[in-house]
Amino acid sequence: MIRARITGVGSCLPPRVVGNDDLAAVMDTSDEWIVQRTGIRERRWVAPDVTTSDLALEASQEALADAGLSGSDLDMVILATLSPDHEFPGTACFLQAKLGVSGQPALDVRQQCTGFVYAVSIADQYLRTGFARRILVVGAEVHSKGLDISTTGRDVAVLFGDGAGAVVLEAGETDDPAAPGILSTHLHADGSGAGDLWLPAPGMAYERFMSADLLERRLHFPQMNGRAVYVNAVKRMAEAVVESLAANGLGVDDVDLFLFHQANLRINEAVTERLGLLPERVFNTIDRFANTTAATIPLGLHEALKAGLLREGMVVCGAAFGSGFTWGSFLLRW
Ligand code: UT7
Repeated sequence: MIRARITGVGSCLPPRVVGNDDLAAVMDTSDEWIVQRTGIRERRWVAPDVTTSDLALEASQEALADAGLSGSDLDMVILATLSPDHEFPGTACFLQAKLGVSGQPALDVRQQCTGFVYAVSIADQYLRTGFARRILVVGAEVHSKGLDISTTGRDVAVLFGDGAGAVVLEAGETDDPAAPGILSTHLHADGSGAGDLWLPAPGMAYERFMSADLLERRLHFPQMNGRAVYVNAVKRMAEAVVESLAANGLGVDDVDLFLFHQANLRINEAVTERLGLLPERVFNTIDRFANTTAATIPLGLHEALKAGLLREGMVVCGAAFGSGFTWGSFLLRW
């Protein structure tokens, strides 16, 4: 059988640290409110001239170096983001050009906070079928330029940060069911929740893609029904973990590391409690990086690696929930 294995990991975080007090200086919020409700203490914001594909490039170069590969070795580039450089073409094309390569397919995944899980699943299918042997999978976001950084937008603005994470996935032949690599992926969506977390404008749903009226109505800022997102996130992420484990005949105690999407520490604590997980096996980065959407899981993977938490043979479960609603999970052996 063919199994897809992560052979390289990289990440990129802008150097500018924005603490909760920095936000409290420009909107009616407080460090106490943000920490209590979300667990976030600080996030990173890019400089004005930095784009999503710039962060993706740095993370990708690090992942490629870690895998001992160069861009020309790649059969495919997949990039998950909800904050593209431009409306079209996809940011994966800009990343590909910045990597100095061409020819291989470049694909954007627009599955928001579940983007990286969807991208890993897509890559896994292409690798298993032999369509490709080496795929770069990236999650990258620049949120800071798109937020309503004022008291009106405070419910959303305090939650998000900028960053990128990347992995190289390579196909390998094996007869060993316990061989390292992706064991399974599981994807879901429920579009009836689309209006609970979205960026309404610009868009072709209006008379004009972009207009002064849309701007006046502030529809170019993300809108969120926080409670609905919270409740569904806990339910769906827990379900996605259980589905992963059941598909592989494993129990929660067989998993060495859980890499959950980082939207709110309370969401992850609730999932941990609901499933009876050992808290020390759930790796969170939200206090330092906030919600970097498609980047949270690869960023977390890289941070966990740097912290020495991953050893060969360990079982890792990733799960995410986000706008769409979309949710999913993957299970891999390191
Ligand atoms: O990947 C998906 C991304 N999004 C999420 O995962 C979000 C999921 N939802 C959440 O994390 C939580 O719903 C929030 C953290 C967004 C909000 O927490 P909450 O406990 O549900 O608070 P709330 O929305 O019920 O608001 C409580 C109060 C309100 O004031 P009043 O009406 O009680 O006077 C808000 O206006 O907190 C106020 N508030 C704030 N206060 C200070 C909302 N945002 C802020 C803020 N600072 N940043």
